[in-house]
Amino acid sequence: MTASREVSDVTDSLTADTVVLPPVVATTVPASLDARSVSAWFGSHQVLSRVSLTMPAGQVTALIGPSGCGKSTFLRTLNRMHELIPAARFGGEVLFEGEDIYDASWRLTDARRRIGMVFQKPNPFPAMSIYDNVVAGLRLTGTRASRREKDELVEESLSRAGLWKEVRDRLRQPGGALSGGQQQRLCIARALAVRPRVLLMDEPCSALDPTSTRRVEETIGELAGQVTVVIVTHNMQQAARVSQQCAFFLAEQGTPGGIVEAGATNDIFNTPQDGRTADYVAGRFG
Ligand SMILES: Nc1ncnc2c1ncn2[C@@H]1O[C@H](COP(=O)(O)OP(=O)(O)O)[C@@H](O)[C@H]1O
Ligand SMILES: [Mg+2]
Repeated sequence: MTASREVSDVTDSLTADTVVLPPVVATTVPASLDARSVSAWFGSHQVLSRVSLTMPAGQVTALIGPSGCGKSTFLRTLNRMHELIPAARFGGEVLFEGEDIYDASWRLTDARRRIGMVFQKPNPFPAMSIYDNVVAGLRLTGTRASRREKDELVEESLSRAGLWKEVRDRLRQPGGALSGGQQQRLCIARALAVRPRVLLMDEPCSALDPTSTRRVEETIGELAGQVTVVIVTHNMQQAARVSQQCAFFLAEQGTPGGIVEAGATNDIFNTPQDGRTADYVAGRFG
């Protein structure tokens, strides 16, 4: 799936109803996520079976494991993006501060606004200005804001994404003119513009050079505490650097993916309980 396709998927899913921006104070209150017995299918193909994982508020949880084991699918169940894919099915519960986001009282836009997403490939709108790219985050979730609120939000979001100092003098230039790493931080700013309490990131550095990667990792470090982060990464060193919690996913021989082991990142890397985890973190497969 291409990055631009993902954005249009989000746009297409929007309903006409709009919501009012939450108060600024919400930016500093991260929320816990608790996945309970999550299963996922594409048609008859089950790709996750009864996955449970607690993602503590204000911490960075890394999802690691070989390609194809269901990490991205799991991430998409955490803000209901999974259900946008044709033939996708879901079972289980995802509790946001104890409330099931799949409950009938939750609208798709509620989930999308409270639980933001950043993708693998930086996908700013290239011809749109840096300013409008950040504000576009509001439109994607149907949030309304006044001109003054927008000005404040653009500065706040770019600052939180660690990009403000680099772009403050060229907010009207196109987002596509930025470097790859800056574009990814612009996408983080766009996601932060609705003041989500959780931020999901799917291999956000895999298209970036090492310097830009470090810069994004610093940004993740700065966001921790303000927002709960769940990050998929295939880079073990990155998981060790940025996360406090880690979950190792595996899908063995055509069976649906699941979590082999989860816990404090230090423990997963230094004293894994399962031999498969030990082999994976030591780079012996995957
Ligand atoms: N849109 C889709 N349609 C059908 N199958 C999919 C789709 N996306 C992923 N899958 C399948 O689901 C499984 C898990 O994929 P994914 O969640 O992308 O794994 P990971 O992120 O760990 O590499 C794979 O078998 C993949 O082929
Ligand atoms: Mg993936």
